[in-house]
Amino acid sequence: MEDLYYSDYIELDKILNSQHPKSFESLEEGNDEMLFIIIHQVYELWFKQILFELDLVRHIFIRDRINDNSDDLSRVVQKLKRIGKILELINQQVSVLETMTALDFLEFRNVLLPASGFQSKQFRLIEAKLGLKLEQRYKKQYYKATRRGSLSAADLGEIDTAEHEPALKELIIRWLERMPYLDEQFWNDYTQSSEAVHEDRHKFWADYREAYRNSLSQNEEARLAEFDKVFFDEGRGNIPPAAMRAALFITLYRNLPIFHLPFELLNTLSEIDELLSNWRYRHFLMVRRMIGLRVGTGGTSGSGYLEGTLSQHYAFREITEVATFLIERSKRPSLPNALKEKVSFNL
Ligand code: HEM
Repeated sequence: MEDLYYSDYIELDKILNSQHPKSFESLEEGNDEMLFIIIHQVYELWFKQILFELDLVRHIFIRDRINDNSDDLSRVVQKLKRIGKILELINQQVSVLETMTALDFLEFRNVLLPASGFQSKQFRLIEAKLGLKLEQRYKKQYYKATRRGSLSAADLGEIDTAEHEPALKELIIRWLERMPYLDEQFWNDYTQSSEAVHEDRHKFWADYREAYRNSLSQNEEARLAEFDKVFFDEGRGNIPPAAMRAALFITLYRNLPIFHLPFELLNTLSEIDELLSNWRYRHFLMVRRMIGLRVGTGGTSGSGYLEGTLSQHYAFREITEVATFLIERSKRPSLPNALKEKVSFNL
């Protein structure tokens, strides 16, 4: 059998023969369109890798049970951290494209009309598979439109399918809801620190609510009602109360060995949201620099639309905002011994 050759293995010929600038033919008339094409291709390749990792993570999480003793959770965290590293990298790449000036861009902008990054199916799939819902989107009417510059019907169909599959966010919610550590069996020897009684609540939460109340300054008193709403009545966004309670509990007691990885996981989700929004911000600034206030080739209002996505397009905002309900370490209720034994390596 013939030895495998480098360029055959990575199919380099296909990749290196896929740059066909439309605005020039010879090097003498060459402009920045080559850079423009290559940078988009590099992004799409990284998007592909992100989707690959995301699908793998969802595949692990889709089971009814994540085995705490297997390497499931550490694999999930490792893959999500890798997605974070890729996002860091693609954030830096914006500055390569920014070496092109607005006038340089105008030399070829007209030839790409009405194509736009807005039509990046992979970017939408990443958003959908993370858990961003259509109803949450800024100017959602742009997304399902089928005019010039919009996504093709085939791409829209694929995005629609992804939006109806369980997104990472939904799977994380289900996993949080299954957290067993407030089961009565671990709490028999718990001594309540407050007098508070709530018929419908675990005694831990009655104590925690008191501690939280004491941590609030006078002008923050409304937060207590918010606490009840988020953790007992309605939940937050599309995360139900039980899952919000688990996220808070993990965040509070992340020093306990069993919560190390779950905390890493939640923290990495916030990081991914933050890095994606860094990208949105850098892209928005770059767009304003390149085209000012002109409309986008994809038919949106351009930089105005992109600025709007910044405040709305988060998948894990509720998890990040758990920080609103934290109290100082020293004020946390002490956990009962039975639970500590269950969640520690060896006492
Ligand atoms: C000169 C550089 C660029 C300009 C002027 C530009 C301009 C725009 C504009 C105006 C939009 C809004 C949609 C529209 O009406 O067209 C947009 C969206 C988008 N662009 Fe770019 N872009 C540039 C580079 C890039 C690069 C390098 C990528 C990498 C893949 C990219 C990916 C995207 C994506 C994913 C969207 C959709 C964002 C969203 O809807 O949240 N763009 N771009």
